[in-house]
Amino acid sequence: MPSNYVRLGVNIDHIATIRNARGGIHPDPVAGAWEAIKAGADGITAHLREDRRHINDDDLNRLQMLCKSENIPLNMEMAATQEMLNIALALKPKAICIVPERRQERTTEGGLDVKGKHNVLKPIINELNNNGSRVSLFIEAKYEQINAASQTEAKVVEFHTGSYAKALDDGEISLANQLILNFKKSAKVANKLGLEVHFGHGLNYDNVEMVAAIPQCAELNIGHFIIGESIFSGLGESINRMRTLVEDSRVKI
Ligand code: PXP
Repeated sequence: MPSNYVRLGVNIDHIATIRNARGGIHPDPVAGAWEAIKAGADGITAHLREDRRHINDDDLNRLQMLCKSENIPLNMEMAATQEMLNIALALKPKAICIVPERRQERTTEGGLDVKGKHNVLKPIINELNNNGSRVSLFIEAKYEQINAASQTEAKVVEFHTGSYAKALDDGEISLANQLILNFKKSAKVANKLGLEVHFGHGLNYDNVEMVAAIPQCAELNIGHFIIGESIFSGLGESINRMRTLVEDSRVKI
């Protein structure tokens, strides 16, 4: 892989959201993951929530089997709870992204407070590392959080792009530009502190390029938009189009 390459992790949670709306077995998120892999996804991301509102335990086990057999990393998103730690230790996914989780939220709102929860997070991260999973922390791009993340054994930070996506949706262009500048500065700081930098949340065809063009960006995790768009174009096509935008944005830097 050229060093300029940005990995595209496809989050398949919302295939399960559609399935669960009817309580049956269709559409199967594992079949979706297989389509995503065939279309060139570099990783599959799935969030096992405490309330199992989309992905369930059986999905996660089947996803791990698929990813292992295809030699593609499964990136398990999880809250820092004992229940999730036990599941992750048994599953041994290649990658784990620790996210904050509140029962009432619609999606992951805001980043993890690594600074405030350092004492809780550090032992969990150590156990996961020792078990062979590479740990990423989903944080806001703020110096205090990046610095706190660098003082754990986490190898990666994923910057929450939700506010940037919302600023653009709301037509707040100068705010969006400021947020991109902050991502650029923060990504440099994170790399200097030895952390790989990923981005995710709310990314779509219209907003992905500015993020993908950040030189330190090593991976993007994108779900809701790709799955939603696949209704119109098919999953393979929505992934291909996203991949092309990402690759084109790297040529320009
Ligand atoms: N990265 C993380 C850590 C997330 O929690 C999510 C949402 O589950 C995503 C990326 C993907 O966000 P979206 O579904 O908005 O593309």
